[in-house]
Amino acid sequence: MLTFAETDLLKACEARLGSQPDAEEERALRHWWDVQKERSRSLATALIGQDEGEWTGTIVEHRAHRHPWYDYLALRATVEEFATFILENSPLPAFLPLVERTLAAQICEQGRAAVLRNIEDEMVPVPHADLMRRLVAALKTRAGDGLRLERFPSLVNRILVFYYGYYCDPWGLAGSLYATEAMAHHRMTQMGKGLERLGFDNEDREFIRVHVECDEGHASDWSEGVIAPSIRLERGLRVPISEGIAACLESSTRYLDDCEARTT
Ligand SMILES: [Fe+2]
Repeated sequence: MLTFAETDLLKACEARLGSQPDAEEERALRHWWDVQKERSRSLATALIGQDEGEWTGTIVEHRAHRHPWYDYLALRATVEEFATFILENSPLPAFLPLVERTLAAQICEQGRAAVLRNIEDEMVPVPHADLMRRLVAALKTRAGDGLRLERFPSLVNRILVFYYGYYCDPWGLAGSLYATEAMAHHRMTQMGKGLERLGFDNEDREFIRVHVECDEGHASDWSEGVIAPSIRLERGLRVPISEGIAACLESSTRYLDDCEARTT
């Protein structure tokens, strides 16, 4: 039985970052996942049926990758819409603790080395969380105080996919992070175009520039450095990784569809 509304579950997950949820919170999170997993079941089943070498192709062909919302950000979004989009996602955990959580689950040296490279890159040229803070500050300054930030269900579900992986399923989380990085180049390019169009300077856009340049390497590090050698050792990992990819893609699409619908 669900003991938490989804927004309360998200609040609990945010508050516990760096430790673990209590027993009741974890039960609620696992129940939430049972429901969500069914919503992306057919894609997860398709991925499990593929060779893992085909997964990147499936990810980049998914609607979440080149979603029309990113074109809207590039070409039409106002400063207020852009700021709302970024600020509403602030409950999403920073990338670094997520990647660090997958490090502990690694089962081979090759995987460990690839995750460590990803962690080190997260600090170059400066910690990426600092660059994100700079972008958020610039957006807040330009957008002013009148923003109406919401926590609607598809946003909360998209974020909880990452918290579930973080607290309960590091290989599912690895799948979600792999999908996120495989799609990052397009997402970051379109966001960068939008921010430039709106007059944000190079310094404000540094987070975007850094990620346009590094995330494709990260995606191949996940697939060839982490996922392929780990699956060779433990074939059963194909299931949580596929479920993590599928949940990330399907929850992102539902969320991005809602972002798009709000503007019309
Ligand atoms: Fe980063």
